Amino acid sequence: MVETREDVEDMLSPVANDGHSAERGAALFGIHCVACHGSDGRGGGKVSEKMPPAPDLRHISICRRTDGFIYGTITAGGRAMPSLREGLSTRDRWDLVSFVRELQSAGCEGSAAGMGSATEPDGAGTDTGEADGTGPDTAGSEAGTVAPDAATTGDAQ
Ligand code: HEC
Repeated sequence: MVETREDVEDMLSPVANDGHSAERGAALFGIHCVACHGSDGRGGGKVSEKMPPAPDLRHISICRRTDGFIYGTITAGGRAMPSLREGLSTRDRWDLVSFVRELQSAGCEGSAAGMGSATEPDGAGTDTGEADGTGPDTAGSEAGTVAPDAATTGDAQ
């Protein structure tokens, strides 16, 4: 049982990202995510007018998340995003991760330096004291110094 997204941050997708998975994910995205994240994943879906705005999924801070973290967000919810576990199989959720990755493959937006600026969507930051090591600052400053493996976060172990 996934309680929080940090629990599964290091998990690797069991689904081959062969295009087919992203295709299934796209269909599921249209049903489960569009209301908040918008039809192209750029945020600003209808529901976002009434609750904390859902971020552009191409934002650099989200591009830097591990697959497992995105899977965990869908499964257990985020700070403002509800858990969408219900009605979505494990496979469905990994297909959604594949689709998010496909969206991001078109190019990520924002810059690490701009994180926390006006372009930073509420709540999508990595700088929330989670100390998860996925933040660009953590990875950058530790690489090559004291803890070389701290920079490899996603696939450590
Ligand atoms: C009810 C509105 C809502 C729905 C539905 C929703 N989201 Fe979100 N999502 C949010 C909000 C708000 C945030 C930013 C705050 C947070 O992390 O909770 C977010 C954040 C995210 C993040 C970034 C997490 C991070 O911190 O890096 C990802 C990835 C994501 N959503 C994917 C999805 C996917 C995939 C779906 C569909 C399965 C989905 N969301 C459905 C509102 C929503």
